[in-house]
This record gives sequence, structure tokens and C-alpha cells, in this order.
Amino acid sequence: KSFVRHYPGLKRLASSLAFVFDIDGVLVRGKRALPAAKRALAILDGNNRFGIKIPYILLTNGGGVSEVTRCNELSEQLGVQIKPEQYIQAHTVVRSIVHKYADTPVLVLGGRGDTLRHVAEGYGFRQVYNTLDVLAWNPSVWPFHDLTMEERTSAKAADFSKIPIGAIFVFHDPRNWALDIQVMCDVLRSGGVIGAPPYMSECSRRPVDLVFCNPDLVWKSEFDRPRLGQGAFKEAFQAVFKALTGTTYPYVQLGKPTEQTYRFSETVLGRYAGGNSSLQIYMVGDNPESDIAGANAAGWKSILVNTGVYDPRQGPPKHKPTHEAENVEKAVLWALEQVL
Ligand code: G3P
Ligand code: MG
Repeated sequence: KSFVRHYPGLKRLASSLAFVFDIDGVLVRGKRALPAAKRALAILDGNNRFGIKIPYILLTNGGGVSEVTRCNELSEQLGVQIKPEQYIQAHTVVRSIVHKYADTPVLVLGGRGDTLRHVAEGYGFRQVYNTLDVLAWNPSVWPFHDLTMEERTSAKAADFSKIPIGAIFVFHDPRNWALDIQVMCDVLRSGGVIGAPPYMSECSRRPVDLVFCNPDLVWKSEFDRPRLGQGAFKEAFQAVFKALTGTTYPYVQLGKPTEQTYRFSETVLGRYAGGNSSLQIYMVGDNPESDIAGANAAGWKSILVNTGVYDPRQGPPKHKPTHEAENVEKAVLWALEQVL
């Protein structure tokens, strides 16, 4: 049966509707694309019997590599072309604030080796360090990790006793929580210089900014149960910092569900979908606390799927979606029916 016969207003639809897809738990589980995802994107990509494209972008709290690298990986996994201009990951939004730190020494945490150093430099940071650089400078900073040959090769030579770190950005999930929490405490308690004595009082503290890019306490990867995310790392850091100093450290939170990330996404979507101000946006997500909360607050329609973090057997979601669907294909078909 022709899709157009069932959806005669499809051309009008294509100019008034757009989708925002979460990735982990909606389109993929770890390295594996969900079958429903390929069918859903085919419906929107126009590579099918009715041949009409409906714009969509991907919005993830994931990251750890450049946007181009992740888009190439996703295009391979999903069997459709995902372009960088339709892709937003946890730290992409940092591009909108990098001007404040272009000439400031910053610490960028997360990801493997020095991959995120190059990503941060691509955003415009000019003095980017990571915790492996610190360990290469002085192994006694954290005596329980011996740098691998690969880590030693990728480390940037620096004397951190002379570098006042001005900001710490947690781009993606740290791989060595202990090393990263140790270095964060050294930097934040001393006002930026590792090895300097902790500042004596709040007023003498030199303000070192702390920015987290993904608040997810948990996320859905390949394993049956949700895994700890960057939000869990933040809780661990704050618990240690409070045990040391009696207080937690003030920070900026980016990523879903924050308003800054959703406003940034609307700009990206507007550019990608042709800037139609009356665009009806449908977000499809698996995490009520990030995807649904953020979409609802942004005034978008939200569809919660059962293929990720949210498990309907655990009771109703903390943030009520516009609609619940079994998977992303059913979510897309439901949304199309609402607009016609
Ligand atoms: O690290 C990624 C995870 O926190 C969530 O990813 O795609 O479900 O927003 P996503
Ligand atoms: Mg998800």
C-alpha cells in the first residue's frame, strides 16, 4: 500500500515537522544498531516508497571523540548518512563558550588518551591539558597508575608547578576516576596550580571554573542493566571534595536536560531544517531524566521508548512524555499520524 495514500499531506508535513533523536538506548545499544532504528530513519530519510525527507538531528549526552568521527561511526552502524551538521554530542555546546577560555590553560577530562585534547583544540582552546599529562610530569601525583607506552607517547610535556589551570571541563566519561578526582582536587583546592597548598579560605580562592557536559547518572549500553554515566562520576568527585573540604564545589552543568543544550539544539535544528520558526519538534528518548525532561521544558513533543534506560516494569516515568512507544520506529509512525 502506498504510504502517500495514507499520508496525503506528507509534503506539507515535511516542512512543519522535525525529529530529534537520542542515541544510546534509542538508535543503538553500544556498538549495535537497533533494527527499529534503521526502519525509522529510512522512513524519514526519504529512501523509500514515498521519497519525502523529513529532517532530523541526533542529540546525545555521549561523546569522547570528534563530531566527524562519531558521525562516520553512526553512519556505518545505522546504514544512513549522518552529517556533522545534524549531530550534537555532550560537549558540542562548549563551542558556544570557548571564547571565554581561548588563552586559558584548561584541563579536559574523559575519553581515551589525548583524543579529547584534539577535539578541544578544534573548538578553539589553545592550552589544553589532561590528567595523563599531569602523571607524565610527576608520577607521584597518583602512585597507582603506571602510564602505558601509548599514554606516555600522547602526553604533552609541561611543568604543572608553573601552570595556573583556569578551568576544568569534563567532556566525556573519565576512564580513571581515581586519577581524575585526585587531579581535580589538587587543582580546585589550590586555585589552579597542582602541588601548591590548598587555599586558606573561600575568599582567597582563585576561581577555577568546573564544567560537566553530561549529567546522566546512568545510561543504556550493551549490558542488560543501565551503566553508570558521567553524572555518577560527578557524584563521586563531589563526595570526595566535600569529605576533604566540608563543601561541594560549584559547577556549570551542560548536556540534556539543561536549557543551554536544548536552546543550542534548536539553533542547530533551525539551520539544518531551514529555520522554520513554526517547526513542531518531536524528541524520541529513552531516559526520562534527560531526554523527556529537557524536551518537555523546551516545549517540544516528547516520546519515551522502552528500549533503553526506562523500564515500564519499574513504574511510571518521573517525567511524563507526550507519548510512550515500544521502539523508535513506532515512535516515528505515531508522530506522523499526529501531524496529518
Ligand atoms: O555517555 C552517553 C550516555 O550518558 C547517554 O547517551 O545517547 O542516551 O544521550 P545518550
Ligand atoms: Mg539514551
